[in-house]
Amino acid sequence: MIFEQKDGDIMNLESPIGVFDSGVGGLTVLNELISRLPFENFIYIGDTKNSPYGEKDNDTIASYVSNIVKYFENKGVKQVVIACNTATVNSSHLINETNLDIIGVVQPTALKAINTTITKRVLILATSATIRNGIYQKLLSEQKINAFAVACPKFVPLIEKNMLNTPESFAVVKEVCEPYKDLKIDTVVMGCTHYGLLANEIRQVMGNVNIITSGEATYYVVKDRLKKRNLLNNSQKHGEIKLLTTGSVEVFKKSIGWFKNRIDALEHVSLE
Ligand code: DGL
Repeated sequence: MIFEQKDGDIMNLESPIGVFDSGVGGLTVLNELISRLPFENFIYIGDTKNSPYGEKDNDTIASYVSNIVKYFENKGVKQVVIACNTATVNSSHLINETNLDIIGVVQPTALKAINTTITKRVLILATSATIRNGIYQKLLSEQKINAFAVACPKFVPLIEKNMLNTPESFAVVKEVCEPYKDLKIDTVVMGCTHYGLLANEIRQVMGNVNIITSGEATYYVVKDRLKKRNLLNNSQKHGEIKLLTTGSVEVFKKSIGWFKNRIDALEHVSLE
């Protein structure tokens, strides 16, 4: 949770849920949301024009986040889900900019890791901006968990180019994870929503570890929030799934071959 909606706004059950990320990574979260909330309408924005966020400065990332949330506000979404860790840690300014109810991925993902590790030794993989923010390290160390935090700037470009399960992806993941493989780490946090797509590569280096992704954990928060606000759509009619990219539709299409849910529309959007 980032913050709850201020009083006064009346939302419609049919209003869409706005989900966003810098690119295709947040679709791993959307996948879970669609499967578990099939009657909801969704608008997803992949801000591929500005991707990757993770190597940019905080003010720049915060301005991208503001633009997207402004768009969602104009579309009348009933809930915003920030399906991006880097954007989540650069979203606190939104409290002064919008009345929308906003949920981020960091807290649910960290909580899942805290409840999973037995050895109390956890590897956090995330973008440079998320590691620099230090939120995962803080949340885990407050629970007396030994957190090893590593920025992985080479991961997102591979995923955006759909170079999964390739010699390059195995080599890049090996270079990052190998130093952590014999440290009794039993849990690896995907502190970036793109990284779950590299699970095969990570398991090859780290062995039989728990891989913590954001989708399922975030779904529980979204469902609880909608229920609490009486906004769950139980229409029994499948919702509409609309994907928008600020970059090229063709490139976006090519990089989401792994996305198995139904897509009703895939279009370009300009946020300026
Ligand atoms: N998927 C985003 C996250 O969860 C980051 C990707 C990027 O660097 O743009 O942090």
